Amino acid sequence: MAEQRTESLKLDLDKVDQIIEKYRHDKAPYIPLMQEINDEYRYLPEEALKRVSKALNISLSELYSLATFYKCFSLTPRGEHELQVCLGTACHVRGASQILEKITRNLQVEPGKTTDDGKYTVETVNCLGACALGPLVMIDDKYFGNLTPDKIDKMLGGNHEEDK
Ligand code: FES
Repeated sequence: MAEQRTESLKLDLDKVDQIIEKYRHDKAPYIPLMQEINDEYRYLPEEALKRVSKALNISLSELYSLATFYKCFSLTPRGEHELQVCLGTACHVRGASQILEKITRNLQVEPGKTTDDGKYTVETVNCLGACALGPLVMIDDKYFGNLTPDKIDKMLGGNHEEDK
């Protein structure tokens, strides 16, 4: 298992090196380069930022400043799918908190975190812009409206069973 992790880390760093080479001669390489690393791994691994820092002679703290300033970057691993639960007023009055509770129980994850299997990152938001459909959840770019707790298993594809 440890060998497998080492191998995947090595592959990761090879990919990071390729991305660095792609942007090395650009006048302002950092944002697009970090964006590509973030897209590749769904976050900015520390080892990748160290690699960029060394290769492009920019301090690690400057890279972290950029990473924390722009919302498009994440410093923690993100799930394969972004699951957003709306807790805005219109959704709240229709039972959004029960929806959130059911989702976090089924996926065994707290809001703002990623499931152990790396499949979902669960976030709460204040409005998804379709209040009439509340309570509303968005997974990637797909809406699930008029939800009730008993529709959650189907929404999640039945892959995550609640602990009995
Ligand atoms: S309050 Fe939930 S979509 Fe607007």
